[in-house]
Amino acid sequence: MTSKITISPKFNLMDIFRMPISKRNNNYHLYKSGRYSLYYALENIKKIFKEIDTIYVPNLICPQVLIPIKENGIAIKYYNIDRNLNFDKKILLDEIDDKCIVLVINYFGFPSDWEFFNNLKKNKKCLLISDNCHAIFTEFKKKSLNEYGDISFNSLRKIIPTLSGSQLFYNNNNLNIMEKNINPRLPNKDELKLIFRSLKPDFIKKNYGTIEQVGEFDYSKNYSKFFNIKKNTNIDIFSNNIFEKYLSNEITIKKKRIENFNYWSNFLPSSDFHFINIDKMSSEVCPYVFPCIPKSTEIMNKWLSWSKIKNIVVINWGNKHEFLDKDLKRILLFPVAHNFDIAKSLVR
Ligand SMILES: Cc1ncc(COP(=O)(O)O)c(C=O)c1O
Repeated sequence: MTSKITISPKFNLMDIFRMPISKRNNNYHLYKSGRYSLYYALENIKKIFKEIDTIYVPNLICPQVLIPIKENGIAIKYYNIDRNLNFDKKILLDEIDDKCIVLVINYFGFPSDWEFFNNLKKNKKCLLISDNCHAIFTEFKKKSLNEYGDISFNSLRKIIPTLSGSQLFYNNNNLNIMEKNINPRLPNKDELKLIFRSLKPDFIKKNYGTIEQVGEFDYSKNYSKFFNIKKNTNIDIFSNNIFEKYLSNEITIKKKRIENFNYWSNFLPSSDFHFINIDKMSSEVCPYVFPCIPKSTEIMNKWLSWSKIKNIVVINWGNKHEFLDKDLKRILLFPVAHNFDIAKSLVR
């Protein structure tokens, strides 16, 4: 049995002994994860732009993103995403004004239509947040996605082998918040599980330390297990020491991820799937996963069972919002993490 192929790269145990890079380029704030970056960003927006009361979010979204919005008491409205990940421009053009924030998700590592959003901001005076949780290394028109939006944030663990961490960038001078971080903390129970997992020999198939998922988002539910602002919301000490080393490996990481992405696009049969974004792949994109839509629920279940036999993590992603396109509800994400060679793994 070879090791499980996961969506996020596995933590490397030797990284526990690494020291931090001494000179840090800190034009960002560091938090524990994307949801905390978003929480603090919204809290600061509310202090400075007092008229803001609503955020428009795409209806293809992971539930973790909705918790910090709810905790900030900002009203959530949805804009529609279709099965090719195009969004409903009309609702944004009709409804957005200067009391709104628009959350822009750069899905699966592909840049959104920033020309449209920048024009929207110019004409409607709204605020934009760039969610780069899937897109740390992606550029749009030769500029990092970190630089788009009034605020942008990412989620390190999804792309590089850290235990936690998220960079929050304030790109709007009016939001130039001074408090800079902050002491890293010791790893928590879930992070210790991730370290333990990296120790597990390949022949043990049992899943030790499975980390609980949020599930479908319910506005009335209590999510303190997944989001608790009273706990320490800083990055853990090990991730703090290593993330810059991995960020500087951008070219190698991107190359391998694109290679794995292209492998899936040839391997998976077009008779079973509607492929998304294949024609949008470019050297500016660093993919998070290979996304595709199985043509029926039976086909989806067939590939989920196949992935278990092959020891490959494939997930059916996103919050099942009631108005979400019914095909998109079946979306599957196949892993492309750079520390795996998908081609070799599939012929083993
Ligand atoms: C698009 C997107 N944004 C934000 C998040 C939240 O990131 P984190 O898990 O680091 O809090 C996720 C999590 O899956 C995500 O997929």
